[in-house]
Amino acid sequence: QLADSLFIINNFARDYFVQTMFDTEEGQNVGLSYFEERGFSEEIVRKFQLGYSLDKRDAFVKAAQAKGYNQEYLLKTGLIAIRNELPQDNYRGRVIFPIHNQSGKVLGFGARILVKSDRAPKYINSPENDIYVKSKVLYGTYFARHSIDRLDECLLVEGYTDVISLHQAGIENVVASSGTSLTTDQLRLIKKYTNNLTILYDGDNAGVKAALRGLDMAIEEGLNVKLALIPDKEDPDSYVRKIGAEAFRNFIAENKQDFILFKLQVSLREAGNDPTKKSQLVNEIAETISRIDKVEDFTKQQDYIRQCSQLLKIDEQGMVTLVNKYIR
Ligand code: GTP
Ligand code: MN
Ligand code: MN
Ligand code: MN
Ligand code: MN
Repeated sequence: QLADSLFIINNFARDYFVQTMFDTEEGQNVGLSYFEERGFSEEIVRKFQLGYSLDKRDAFVKAAQAKGYNQEYLLKTGLIAIRNELPQDNYRGRVIFPIHNQSGKVLGFGARILVKSDRAPKYINSPENDIYVKSKVLYGTYFARHSIDRLDECLLVEGYTDVISLHQAGIENVVASSGTSLTTDQLRLIKKYTNNLTILYDGDNAGVKAALRGLDMAIEEGLNVKLALIPDKEDPDSYVRKIGAEAFRNFIAENKQDFILFKLQVSLREAGNDPTKKSQLVNEIAETISRIDKVEDFTKQQDYIRQCSQLLKIDEQGMVTLVNKYIR
């Protein structure tokens, strides 16, 4: 009942923000222009149901009240908040990215500020409620699922705009973690469509660290994980706009590497000649390899043992023993 009401309100809000962007002067001059300047086509803006929230105190509040929506439910969606004892709009003067579930219903919103500022967050996202549970959602799943299934591969990016830009470039098998590290529920969502996950994060440290954190979990879920690092200072959105769709596809194809081997190379570089660090990393890698399901993926586990032993310059049989030690 509560869930139904939240969906109804979000659905109304989505339509309201779309209409506001296309049918008001401020919406066109500020919201739609923002997307145009980013290089988003009208077609893609319409497809992702992007919108704009007027820079007014209570324009949405009034529209929602006119529909008779319950204030308590409106507050739960995060679309409004009480300030100075009055209900007020929460996403004033921001562009709106609806967040859909797998069947296209609106769970919540991301609202982006137009000009970066130190005083306000770049994105405001809906709070969690009965329908929006962040750890279970991947942005873009609704638009990506058929393509993921057909290509048997899911690309993972960090942000809303990465998903949208790649779609515009004809790359549709892509979802976003929305800037947080992956959860088991999100990995299971991917597994409904494919076993092959390719992470496209930026090469800065934060991006890679976030990706590495999800690795052991992803392997535990039986996913084959690959990684292509996007060049420094770029993200998939900026990079595909810079080099074009064709070159972007080639870049991914040429730079896609196995994630376990990538992790090993990064750690090896960090360990240098320190024997303690090296021993620690041998154990870490053995534990990672031990998470590969031996029954389902016997040859895969063997392959990793061989390749990792070689990279580490250690005895293969010793690695087998160590891996077995970690199998629970
Ligand atoms: P653009 O700057 O519009 O291109 O967005 P981006 O997706 O490139 O942003 P960024 O790489 O900084 O962050 C990746 C994702 O993290 C975003 O798409 C958001 O989902 C989330 N994120 C970024 N900034 C914030 C923030 O200030 N607050 C919250 N809650 N989430 C954020
Ligand atoms: Mn499939
Ligand atoms: Mn980053
Ligand atoms: Mn970006
Ligand atoms: Mn980014």
